[in-house]
Amino acid sequence: MAESKLVAQSSKFGILPTGEQVLKYTLRNSNGLEIDLLEYGAYLSAIRVPVKKGGVIDVLLGYDDLQGYLDDKIYCGCVVGRVANRIGGAKFTLDGHTYNLDKNRGEVHLHAGYSGMNTLLWSSKVNGNSVQFSCVSPDGASGYPGEVRADLSYTLTNDNEIVLDYSANTSKKCPLNMTNHAYFNLQGGTETIYTHKLTLNSSKYTALDNNLVPNGEFIEVSGTPYDFTAGKLIGQDIASSNGGYDVNYCINDKVKHSKCDQLKLCAEVETSEISMSIFTDQVGVQFYSGNFLDPSKLGKKGVPFFKHQAFCLETQGYPNSVNQPAFPDTIVSPGQTYTHATLIQFKF
Ligand code: BGC
Repeated sequence: MAESKLVAQSSKFGILPTGEQVLKYTLRNSNGLEIDLLEYGAYLSAIRVPVKKGGVIDVLLGYDDLQGYLDDKIYCGCVVGRVANRIGGAKFTLDGHTYNLDKNRGEVHLHAGYSGMNTLLWSSKVNGNSVQFSCVSPDGASGYPGEVRADLSYTLTNDNEIVLDYSANTSKKCPLNMTNHAYFNLQGGTETIYTHKLTLNSSKYTALDNNLVPNGEFIEVSGTPYDFTAGKLIGQDIASSNGGYDVNYCINDKVKHSKCDQLKLCAEVETSEISMSIFTDQVGVQFYSGNFLDPSKLGKKGVPFFKHQAFCLETQGYPNSVNQPAFPDTIVSPGQTYTHATLIQFKF
């Protein structure tokens, strides 16, 4: 695979309250596609797509400065780890021991709690057309057992692909289920995502309880507003989707990536200027239509966020797997390595 040309190795992005410096990386490929990455929270903070009609569209929500990311409560492009999405009752039992986790959304644990990997300053290095981030999540972080050493590399190719490779090891048996929480709007975010056409390679999703926690059951999408198998505008049935979409779709093992059998096509999104395909080796993808985006919070250029401004497609193991024995296992033991690969391809 041809390598992208690295235009800017790094620039200073800001200083943390601890006095530590945070670097921002920019990768640019031969087609002019650029991504920005932050050492703090391993954020993917911008994807600038040069479009045919001229100009560049930044397809990600984010903030202008480090303070915006420090204050971020919506996981606006960061890594989520150790465990993505909700854990019911904010607890789980492993080998007879019950672990109580941070309750950071009512009675529920969301996106790894208060001390998730999104709150860490990651170390970083550039390797060809990749930036490799590493962090250590201490034993007991947010209530989880084991010291976890995690790596996440972002690679930009000249095929306009962004590849996210996660790996992690633990000193004690624990659940691991990492994702990235980028908010996309392929039109730049001035309007809602309603005219984006979404296709999901999924015929069922994990059913939720009243706290949006998967209860172990599955729901077939056929004949419901949740059916994106044939592709439709996100806005078409959103009014019948309980305030917007926020469920984990189970990915059908159907279309493989042409260069990598492990990666399955999970989603495609199209607008008149840009299309985006997501491939992953994970079993699920959270389609979240930005239902809780809040206009009292300001994003890039000081512009307020608004409901349904952006969507997330968070590739993952099924949420709450640790409490649902029938779901694919997310437990990792010492000596094992957790891995996750997701590839996002742009056409423009
Ligand atoms: C969850 C939403 C949550 C959002 C931001 C998504 O992954 O499914 O329920 O509000 O993240 O925290």
